[in-house]
Amino acid sequence: TTNWIDAAAHEDVPQDDVVGLLIAGRDIALYGVAGEVFATDNLCTHGNARLCDGFLEGHEIECPLHQGKFDVRSGQPTCAPVTEPLRSYPVKIEGGRVWLALD
Ligand code: FES
Repeated sequence: TTNWIDAAAHEDVPQDDVVGLLIAGRDIALYGVAGEVFATDNLCTHGNARLCDGFLEGHEIECPLHQGKFDVRSGQPTCAPVTEPLRSYPVKIEGGRVWLALD
């Protein structure tokens, strides 16, 4: 069975923006895109930068350090210099809360 973790209130995830949260001891980025929520690791796979300090456009997050980009739905890199995917996590919205499966 899936171990869902209560991560945040849905209303605390900004629309068309990103927020960084410590969830179960992990640094996680939550993205609000068109009423949906996506979750990935917050640390860029290319260097020491937090994606919550970057710029979200549509489903793409741009890293603040070297402007690499990832698709927040899959964690796949979409623009150099990033080559390694980000870990992404299943999300569900229930009871006004955002739940993550971090396992
Ligand atoms: Fe993110 Fe370099 S640290 S693109």
